Amino acid sequence: MGLEVIREFNLQHWDPREAIEPTSPQELTLESGKVLYFPMLPFELKPQESRFLSEHWSDGKTKNISYRGEDAPLQGAQGTADDLLELKAMMARFSHQARQLIEGLFPAYQQGLKEGFTSFRPARVEGRKTSWRKDDTRLHIDSFPSNPTGGKRLLRVFSNLNPAGLPRVWRIGEPFLPHAQRFFPEAQAPIPYKAWLMEQIRLTKTRRTDYDHYMGQLHDLGKKDLVYQETSPQQRFEFPPGTTWVVFSDQVLHAAIGGQFMLEQTFKLPPEHLVNPAAGPLAILEALAGRPLIS
Ligand code: SIN
Ligand code: FE
Repeated sequence: MGLEVIREFNLQHWDPREAIEPTSPQELTLESGKVLYFPMLPFELKPQESRFLSEHWSDGKTKNISYRGEDAPLQGAQGTADDLLELKAMMARFSHQARQLIEGLFPAYQQGLKEGFTSFRPARVEGRKTSWRKDDTRLHIDSFPSNPTGGKRLLRVFSNLNPAGLPRVWRIGEPFLPHAQRFFPEAQAPIPYKAWLMEQIRLTKTRRTDYDHYMGQLHDLGKKDLVYQETSPQQRFEFPPGTTWVVFSDQVLHAAIGGQFMLEQTFKLPPEHLVNPAAGPLAILEALAGRPLIS
């Protein structure tokens, strides 16, 4: 497999409206499972913000620091009130720039886009111990057990901030279709009433649809299968510091195997706003299941 999964752009501004041809439908590129890569688009830190490139701002309980909007406190961070205010302002600025980027690149999504959380990842990827299910050094599509999307797509913007020249190293796997074809036959069928019960006892934030169930199955079956992890078609790619990339992380198989200090912004997009819904995970899984998976 070559590098055709990476699509490179020379964009140098977070507001791309002037720089990118309005005639080129980047929505289709993204929806076909490409990683849109911006090697000349750094997230610029203010001089006093470079001190945040340290692991000690993390409260040690979670691996990420999470920004959930102006009115909510930062999650997972520790420091004085003043420090945390500045860290929050840095994350809010990233969030704002990420939104500008996405709205400029993908005008078709503007109406439907919902902002998710912003995460700062100060921990080193290498040497982190976790359960196999949480192990993001294994190839996976994003699907979060307690956070059903109900069919909404997960669109993510990543920027590597490493001050010491360390790249963010990813493995990128095969396209979603062969991945789903491979694991769907092994997937367990959803258990009647389980989604309702999980919501009742707050294991999930909202009701899990059959789509969420099957996405979770793909996530787990793929991560558990060590032969698949080693032998499935994949490529390694290094995102140097000062670069940004955009991906549908519920579609593109990815694994983070190296690096430290990254910002990430999540957006959720209802599937009716896709330009080519047939290429997405919902349509592919519904075809495999032979029935609708969200209701
Ligand atoms: C992931 O989304 O699985 C991890 C990405 C990263 O931390 O580079
Ligand atoms: Fe992931």
